Amino acid sequence: MIVIAVIFMMRPDFSAPDAMRACANLPATLADGYGYLSPDCVHPQLGIAMTLSPFYFGPLASVAFGVDRIEKLGKDVTSLVGGGAPVLLISDPGVSALGDRAEAILKVAGHRVARFQDIRSDPLSRQIDGAAEAARRHGARLVVGLGGGSALDVSKMAAAIATDDKPAEHYALAVNPLPAISLCKICIPTTSGTGSETTKVSVFTNEKGEKVWAWGSSLSADMSLLDPRLTVGLPAHLTAATGIDALVHAIEACTIRRANSMNDGVCFQAIGLIVEYLPRAVSTPDDLDARGHVQIAASLAGIAIDNSGTGIAHALGHALGALGHVHHGRAVGLSLRAALAWNAEAEPARHASVAAALGVASEGRKQKDVLAELSPRFDAFVRSTGLAVSLSKDGLSAKDSERLANLMMAPENKAMRDSNCRTITAADALTLSQAVLSAA
Ligand SMILES: NC(=O)c1ccc[n+]([C@@H]2O[C@H](COP(=O)([O-])OP(=O)(O)OC[C@H]3O[C@@H](n4cnc5c(N)ncnc54)[C@H](O)[C@@H]3O)[C@@H](O)[C@H]2O)c1
Ligand SMILES: [Fe+2]
Repeated sequence: MIVIAVIFMMRPDFSAPDAMRACANLPATLADGYGYLSPDCVHPQLGIAMTLSPFYFGPLASVAFGVDRIEKLGKDVTSLVGGGAPVLLISDPGVSALGDRAEAILKVAGHRVARFQDIRSDPLSRQIDGAAEAARRHGARLVVGLGGGSALDVSKMAAAIATDDKPAEHYALAVNPLPAISLCKICIPTTSGTGSETTKVSVFTNEKGEKVWAWGSSLSADMSLLDPRLTVGLPAHLTAATGIDALVHAIEACTIRRANSMNDGVCFQAIGLIVEYLPRAVSTPDDLDARGHVQIAASLAGIAIDNSGTGIAHALGHALGALGHVHHGRAVGLSLRAALAWNAEAEPARHASVAAALGVASEGRKQKDVLAELSPRFDAFVRSTGLAVSLSKDGLSAKDSERLANLMMAPENKAMRDSNCRTITAADALTLSQAVLSAA
């Protein structure tokens, strides 16, 4: 399962908070270039000039990619848990024909299959509990999750908690550690956005209607199966929204506090692929080459957020999802659209690199001129995918700003607020909420 694990530490006593404090105390001496190095800083104990903070990268789930790769699913299960295995297939009700196909493939390979399909977009904690109970009843040794991020999150979480008797909410916000032993999991995404197939996160809505998350290595897939043909039926508006989710993941992962140079390689590759291929995937739904590249970008962006996290767009986007059930990808896209220029003031060098990756001309230009084009370029790209920027048809308006800001500042969004490159006050949350809700 584990294909790579890299630990990069200068010395065991070189803690990240120390390094960050040391950097924060220095005057901003950012090069007026287009690189994305942190400002030079001197390590407090070692006394050496460093542009790097310590980080941890990996481990990663193994990924299998190919057109019609799903045909080998039966063999994949056999290699993970042996022949004739009891398998729970958790599939998205929106792609039930694909679920039928996966079931047939598993049965031909000799596995015993039970199905679970009670999943809504932004899944509920009780749906995870239902799936975990179905896994226990069937004596499942492996869970196959097939569908959008909602179905994958239910599958991963059900596989992780089925080995114990506690409900999903027991593990929300990592208050309690997940069971150490999980059922095996294979994730097969049919949207290209969340990257759930490569993250250690599941997101769900609790009984109070709050959008919460669980985190831990038990939520990592044993294998991700990427088959671009499974995404061709995704309508244009969801292709756009999910692709923008992946773009936001990649941008947030290389601009937030825990951003690091190893992860940057992953982030910028994902940004480049999305800029090049998402418009084609939206306009030509059966273009398998475009679909495949966006699918790979989404999985890369999942790796990116798994290694450094998400920031303001997800704090505000989750609040928007909880307030108006706005699709996740659209919610985080509109949130970043409102916050990008504001964030760039705090981390200009990194944001200048993002601008260049989005296609802003950068060679020989001053950083401030490049940055001035960042937000308009992101806005133009979002609009070019057809994503609706106004939330008026979603029943939301500037009158809801205070409720949205309060949700953004709620405990379930603290980890994402704290990761952001710029400190977010309650007044900032209100200003950004007003900006999102009055966009036209
Ligand atoms: N685990 C993570 O790391 C992570 C990261 C980001 C977001 N999320 C979560 O993932 C969820 C969103 O997932 P999503 O954006 O993939 O959307 P989704 O899973 O909610 O699916 C949206 C809609 O698309 C339909 N659909 C899926 N695949 C289809 C296909 N091939 N053809 C036609 N219709 C299809 C679904 O039935 C559903 O109606 C949210 O709950 C979000 O918070 C999780
Ligand atoms: Fe996201």
